[in-house]
Amino acid sequence: MGRINTIFICLILVLGMNSCKEGRTPKAEELPQEVNRYVEPYRPQFHYSPPEKWMNDPNGLVYHEGVYHLFYQYYPGGIVWGPMHWGHAVSKDLVYWEHRPVALYPDENGYIFSGSAVVDHQNSSGLGTADKPPLVAVFTYHNTDLEKAGQTDFQTQGIAYSLDNGQSWIKYHDNPVIPNTEGYKDFRDPKVFWHEESGKWIMVLVAGDHAQLYGSADLKSWEYLSSFGKEQGAHGGVWECPDLFPLKVDDQGQEKWVMIISINPGAPNGGSGTQYFIGDFDGTTFSSGQEDARWIDWGTDNYAGVTYNDVPTGERIFIGWMSNWDYANETPTEAWRSAMTLPRKLRLKQNAGVYTLANYPLTDLGTIFKSEIRKDLTIPAGGSESLDFDHFSQSQIRFRTSGRDFGLAFTNEQGDTLRMRMEGKPGRFVLDRRASGKTDFDPDFAGDPQVMPLTALQDGAVGFRLLMDWSSVEIFIDEGSYAMTSQVFPNGHYTQLLLENAGAEPLLLEDLDVSRAETIWDYTPE
Ligand code: FRU
Repeated sequence: MGRINTIFICLILVLGMNSCKEGRTPKAEELPQEVNRYVEPYRPQFHYSPPEKWMNDPNGLVYHEGVYHLFYQYYPGGIVWGPMHWGHAVSKDLVYWEHRPVALYPDENGYIFSGSAVVDHQNSSGLGTADKPPLVAVFTYHNTDLEKAGQTDFQTQGIAYSLDNGQSWIKYHDNPVIPNTEGYKDFRDPKVFWHEESGKWIMVLVAGDHAQLYGSADLKSWEYLSSFGKEQGAHGGVWECPDLFPLKVDDQGQEKWVMIISINPGAPNGGSGTQYFIGDFDGTTFSSGQEDARWIDWGTDNYAGVTYNDVPTGERIFIGWMSNWDYANETPTEAWRSAMTLPRKLRLKQNAGVYTLANYPLTDLGTIFKSEIRKDLTIPAGGSESLDFDHFSQSQIRFRTSGRDFGLAFTNEQGDTLRMRMEGKPGRFVLDRRASGKTDFDPDFAGDPQVMPLTALQDGAVGFRLLMDWSSVEIFIDEGSYAMTSQVFPNGHYTQLLLENAGAEPLLLEDLDVSRAETIWDYTPE
């Protein structure tokens, strides 16, 4: 093991001893390997990552009987993408997670690709009983035999059900429930929800360059309803992982419908990204006057995100996969690969007739943050201020400012620098990870600096919130009106933050708070 890895592990162990939690996440000995997981270099400490092996998209996000389920695309045989299963974790609070055994295995119909899960409260499917409503997973089968034989109908939709709140699963005997009669090469990622007004289940899936809607009374037989999007939004790559749901505008009376569509490639900063459309849904058709592409997140590493069904508070909660197909298989971790974004609450905002979708981490995440530096900070025009903190790599940083010309540079003893710049004119936020640490594992990773246009940022003080977790940084401006998520692989912890005022006026950072993030994982330090 190299010196740098040793430093990393030592730092993590020190942290672990301070912050182990009793009885929350599994004990180290319950994890699938003899080694203590969650102490490896780059291992996120407050984001979900699997104990070992490859993970991609979140799947089957649903709340049922006191737990939030997180299923995910999983390959138990390696740390690169392979035959897809559904991995599984559960949480009572969306902060602490418990690992569960693999939920769905490939079968004669194919690999188990992305999809969703619903609670069939009325037992409309007949797969449970009135007393025991089934949890029904709806997913894509990807049949490699048919693919290799040159057919184009190798993706179909299947279902499985669970009568013990997701612990064990039974595949429906008559799968697939939606065959691929048109022979779309890309025909996948069904998101299903109950539509009260029309009294039926609605499914949205993607078919190459557009989304399709289906309706069903029983989750088993589906009728095609309509399609959306061939001529709208971004089309630089194939559409994937759709979602469709209503949201109140500005949390008030008016309701609009939001369609989320991931796209790969074709994202604004390269590779994979997630766009959204605001419109209306009448039980059959989703329509939107929106021609332009609007992005949930401007960073390179928030993909395939979808939202929870049945959240008890009625909030719309989104989780994305923190990676990018440009380099996902190459990132420098060894035991596992990839993490999820923090769960984020979606809000629909309206400004002069333009609707935008904000996303912001749930506020009760506050329980894992311990404030270490707290002050109002004024930096003279053209000046700078540096803050030392041994744990920037696992921290939350918040402040409010009306300044628009300033930079943040995180550095470590190994000479790495992660740079961010707020550029008032022409109004953009730029993240440059070219010198942030390990970048040479894939030519696409360092790339150009990532740019987020701040087209409608209001004047005056706005909030900035940064969440750093070893190998990721999530940045939220104005309560998530603008979001940027990016992976980083520094050669050691960032220990210094240089704040530079590039403006002609003094820069005031109000309520600056730097907090240490505790680990959510319960492990025994060696
Ligand atoms: C998105 C995606 C989905 C597919 C899954 C396969 O990242 O390509 O469209 O179902 O990954 O793992």
